Amino acid sequence: METAPESWQAMTPSLAPSISARIRERVSQIETLPTIPTIFLPLLNLLNLPLDQVKVDDVVKLVSYDNTIAAQCLRMASSPLFGLAKAPESIKAAVISLGLRRVQTILLTCSVGRGFAVKEWKINPTVFWKHSLGCAMVCRRLSDKLASADGEKAYMAGLLHDIGILVNCMVFPKEFAAAMEHASREQITLEEAELRSMGFCHCDTGAALAQTWHIADDMIQAIAHHHRPEHSPAAQPLVALVHLSDLLCRVRNLGYGYYERQRVDMVHDPAWEILANEYRALHHMDLVRFTFELDEAIDEISGLVETIFGGASVAV
Ligand SMILES: [Fe+2]
Ligand SMILES: [Fe+2]
Repeated sequence: METAPESWQAMTPSLAPSISARIRERVSQIETLPTIPTIFLPLLNLLNLPLDQVKVDDVVKLVSYDNTIAAQCLRMASSPLFGLAKAPESIKAAVISLGLRRVQTILLTCSVGRGFAVKEWKINPTVFWKHSLGCAMVCRRLSDKLASADGEKAYMAGLLHDIGILVNCMVFPKEFAAAMEHASREQITLEEAELRSMGFCHCDTGAALAQTWHIADDMIQAIAHHHRPEHSPAAQPLVALVHLSDLLCRVRNLGYGYYERQRVDMVHDPAWEILANEYRALHHMDLVRFTFELDEAIDEISGLVETIFGGASVAV
């Protein structure tokens, strides 16, 4: 396995070198374990290519390696969320009905949901996936409201933003269990509890893992800085979008499974200013109405999490 590039250290300057080294050493264990589905990384790479360079047949071929993911993808594609009159019968048919980019992100969702063989979950997995999927959907909806160019990229960043929680469950299970316990007892944010008890948080471990994947830098920034977008050295609008979507999920009861006692003031959050500077549409957005719309989507998200965790065989 490759060691994490130097840039990761630059990304997390607040960490003591001994902690950085410990995280890198533990994260390196993940790459030697069969924990990530075969199609996950090739899919991430495909998503980073401009659409005109992606061939439908490449996507279909990739999915054919994992029939269960294909089946889950089709079940997700037929959910009310995508509003198709007729459920697609194959991945190719889904691409024709939904578009290639949408199908790619559905596939990514299924491969993330099914992958990451966490042996000891220290957080309820259904709660975790509802939060991640919820955040992905809020990212896309918010990005649509802002007329942002890349809703699918926002979705992907939302889906992966807390991947460090899985890293913590896999390689720091005892320490992370204690941090979770501390967070729910004190009703504080998870990252605050992690920082207090472990000296680092899921943003640091998530960024360390994402660096080893060689995915796009803006995605790594979102994973590394989603709790402090103003500290992100690059891609601040995307990171701020993930930050606000994460907050919106947490205040709408789609958090980490415990009550967080924190005052949330979206409009005065530094992330709001970052987004407002980038997108004029934010000045005219009705936040109250937007949060009502999200409440309606929460049932759909719960249903989708069931879909992703279910499984059936189907042809690609
Ligand atoms: Fe987080
Ligand atoms: Fe989160």
